[in-house]
Amino acid sequence: MRAVIVLLFLHLGWTDVVGSVLETGADVEQHVKGGEGQTNPELRTATTTQPDVWTELRDLRKVVQGLAAEVVQQKVELSVTKTQLQHSRSQVQELKTLNAAMEVRLNEEMKDIKTENNAVEMRLTSMEKEMGNVMTDMSGRPKVAFSAALTDAEYIGPFNTDITLVYKKIFTNVGNAYSPITGIFTAPVRGVYYFRFTAVGKSSSHRLVIRLVKNGEQVMAMYELPNDNEYVNNAVVLQLEVGDIIYMQLPSSNEAFDNSNNHTTFSGFLIFTL
Ligand SMILES: *[C@@H]1O[C@H](CO)[C@@H](O)[C@H](O)[C@H]1NC(C)=O
Repeated sequence: MRAVIVLLFLHLGWTDVVGSVLETGADVEQHVKGGEGQTNPELRTATTTQPDVWTELRDLRKVVQGLAAEVVQQKVELSVTKTQLQHSRSQVQELKTLNAAMEVRLNEEMKDIKTENNAVEMRLTSMEKEMGNVMTDMSGRPKVAFSAALTDAEYIGPFNTDITLVYKKIFTNVGNAYSPITGIFTAPVRGVYYFRFTAVGKSSSHRLVIRLVKNGEQVMAMYELPNDNEYVNNAVVLQLEVGDIIYMQLPSSNEAFDNSNNHTTFSGFLIFTL
């Protein structure tokens, strides 16, 4: 607005503007429209020397109106921009809320996955237990090896029936396939196994016969006569199915010997699976 007035001054010239401003617009109009007789000669001069003031003013008004319209337009545009900005802000807020909700859901899913993982781990552990304590080496091969001595009780027998010798002094029992309660080795996996035994009788009156038995059938029998005071021993490689049993047997009327020196022993291990 102020710029427009300054422009007006420059355009009309200083004296013109001052002259027109000194009289009110209404007076000027009246004088101009008045009859020829009443005409003030000074004013006549004034109107003739400044014939375009009203045109200029009208133009000026138009300019001002145009500017005002422009300002209104800009105000409208500004308010539209404001509305858009508010809309964008609310969209950002919505996105933030959505993000937070997603984070919560993700956390919940992570928790679920962890719980599932734990359950799977527990199931795996119990499955391993169910597999009959079959431990495996780095290449996934089961670990099976045992070695035990018979007793510290010295003379075992003679009995009037065949008995299974229970080797109670355990040196090794990886995989627990051998039972020091029953004296029986049970094959945990199908494979090829190595077994060996050593025994002594030390009896002056009884023989020592010792048998290696697989599933109730004799595989080998070694013997020592009374007063021999010699050790008997043997070894065998056997292919076994899962659940096959191997044990050492002392037939009726025979006598075995062991003490804290571990004379009489029984050992075995898995060579490889099949
Ligand atoms: C016999 O074996 C047992 C382990 O069962 C051991 O403690 C002991 O020292 C062994 N005896 C001898 C004489 O080596």
